[in-house]
Amino acid sequence: MTSHKIAPSILSADFASLADDVERVGEEADLLHVDVMDGHFVPNLTLGPPVVKSLRKCTELFLDCHLMVDNPGVLLADFANAGADRCIVHVELGDPRPLFDELRRLDVGVGLTLSPDTPVDAVLPYLTEIDLLLVMSVRPGFGGQAFIPEVLDKVRAARSAIDEQGLPVEIEIDGGINVETAPSAAAAGVDILVAGSAVFHADDPATAARDIRAAAWPNA
Ligand code: DX5
Ligand code: ZN
Repeated sequence: MTSHKIAPSILSADFASLADDVERVGEEADLLHVDVMDGHFVPNLTLGPPVVKSLRKCTELFLDCHLMVDNPGVLLADFANAGADRCIVHVELGDPRPLFDELRRLDVGVGLTLSPDTPVDAVLPYLTEIDLLLVMSVRPGFGGQAFIPEVLDKVRAARSAIDEQGLPVEIEIDGGINVETAPSAAAAGVDILVAGSAVFHADDPATAARDIRAAAWPNA
């Protein structure tokens, strides 16, 4: 049984009007996806704990922080103190277990992610230790890229492994999600759809989020 959630990515919101944009997506958002980029792990620079702290004051939505940074370990306490509900770390950085331990100690949810070129075998050993598996469906770094359909094989493999073991791990997909691509992601077994440009570049973000959910899960 999968869940059916939409996580608007504020990467495509107006950073000078974040509170207004979060308000505009309203109740159609189940959680907010916060893309943290350091200009090293990815060639783009976005935001850090101070912005999460400000977001925390203007919304009660679950704040899911996707850390595209070289050294997440030094930032986890700051994100926790800022009000992050979960931090998602990249498996490409090496053994993520010390980061998991720190997140548990801080009482912050544990997410693990993999870039499109990373095989699913890299994350399967950690499924019993995480709350969320994020499958990247674009190369991390920028919003507005085209969905890479080949990653759906990894979603299917992870879905099988999670279901076979009866684990309480949600699968999220991130990158290029819109009304055209959402149905295939949902069919592959995704629980949470991240959508940035398809939501915040729409005239009405709430309607856009609702349309993506309806396209993905028409019978939900
Ligand atoms: C890319 C980010 C995504 C991005 C998705 O590195 O991780 O979360 O915001 O944007 P769209 O939905 O426009 O592909
Ligand atoms: Zn992201």
